[in-house]
Amino acid sequence: MNTLSELNFSSQRTTRIVVGSVAKDLKGLLPEGRVITIVDAEVDGHHNLSEQLPESILIPGGEENKNLELAEMLWKELIDSKADRGTFLLAVGGGVVMDLVGFVASTFMRGVRFGFVPTTLLGQIDAAIGGKCAVNLGGYKNMVGLFSPADFVLCDAALLSTLSDRELRSGVAEMIKSAIVGDKELFEMLERSDLVALKKDQTLLEEMIERCVRVKCAVVAADPYEKGLRRVLNLGHTLGHAIESLSTEYTHGEAVAVGLVWAARLATERGLLPLAEAERVVGVVEKYGLPTSVALAEEELMEAMTHDKKCGPEGVKIVLPESIGKCGIYRL
Ligand SMILES: NC(=O)c1ccc[n+]([C@@H]2O[C@H](COP(=O)([O-])OP(=O)(O)OC[C@H]3O[C@@H](n4cnc5c(N)ncnc54)[C@H](O)[C@@H]3O)[C@@H](O)[C@H]2O)c1
Ligand SMILES: [Zn+2]
Repeated sequence: MNTLSELNFSSQRTTRIVVGSVAKDLKGLLPEGRVITIVDAEVDGHHNLSEQLPESILIPGGEENKNLELAEMLWKELIDSKADRGTFLLAVGGGVVMDLVGFVASTFMRGVRFGFVPTTLLGQIDAAIGGKCAVNLGGYKNMVGLFSPADFVLCDAALLSTLSDRELRSGVAEMIKSAIVGDKELFEMLERSDLVALKKDQTLLEEMIERCVRVKCAVVAADPYEKGLRRVLNLGHTLGHAIESLSTEYTHGEAVAVGLVWAARLATERGLLPLAEAERVVGVVEKYGLPTSVALAEEELMEAMTHDKKCGPEGVKIVLPESIGKCGIYRL
């Protein structure tokens, strides 16, 4: 078990992030006392985790279930099972389950402690880290939520073996993002590797996960409540969210991949990024079978971007790469 980072939110809230194995390492991370596990039913179907874990509640995964109805069902189930303020909640699933259980745990009886076992690549390198928990409401993503970090995040790369290629690729899009935001060597590793190699070589995958976790932790540690710098993690996401709002054809990662290519090209047009570096971004996105463009009208995309909820009074802010490994925040 390799502790990558201790992310401090305050003197009382620290997240221990570990790359290891559920079978070997989970027990050592759980506190004494009662633990209730909330598991994505699809993940459980593949890995039979509920048999090995304490008191399991199975829930459906997927974005359509990240809502107040499922949160309410869980709160009620916790009450019925006589959970109290000392009960620890363990979430096992993709980013949806992390966001939902983090929200449920942080509000149940004014907050109980919780830990995460993310089971998607996106969950391990992104959603589980950084304390943002939320559910969707009335068609708006992440509208109701709070900053509340997990006690631990256990990333077990073996769990990723059952992801479809499409889900894995979507996680790779976020890896490419992390590399452009803060790890030039990770970008080079991605250039040298491919999807087949990542599926075969768990050690390589783990090293890449570790590097992404380090990038995210460094940014979050400098700006835990997203007052400024943390926005660099939105690289590729302004256009990505616009694409997602206009079409259901693309996964989040695919939309982000298009956003990364767009940001790199725009950065070149503005003289911020050499053309050769932008071409490397396009090359790596293509190498993993991710899209570089979408069949949507440019005006429609611009319109959707200017309606992004993160748009403040000073207009839309976008993240642009200044080199591979360094980004800045600019006006659209
Ligand atoms: N809190 C944050 O900082 C943060 C950051 C990024 C994303 N997110 C959120 O994360 C969510 C997306 O996460 P996601 O992409 O993991 O989606 P997800 O949780 O919906 O998982 C994707 C699909 O894969 C299935 N699945 C999960 N693990 C599996 C496994 N090991 N094998 C086979 N199938 C598996 C799930 O059942 C689901 O159908 C979004 O709601 C997004 O808002 C949050
Ligand atoms: Zn994302």
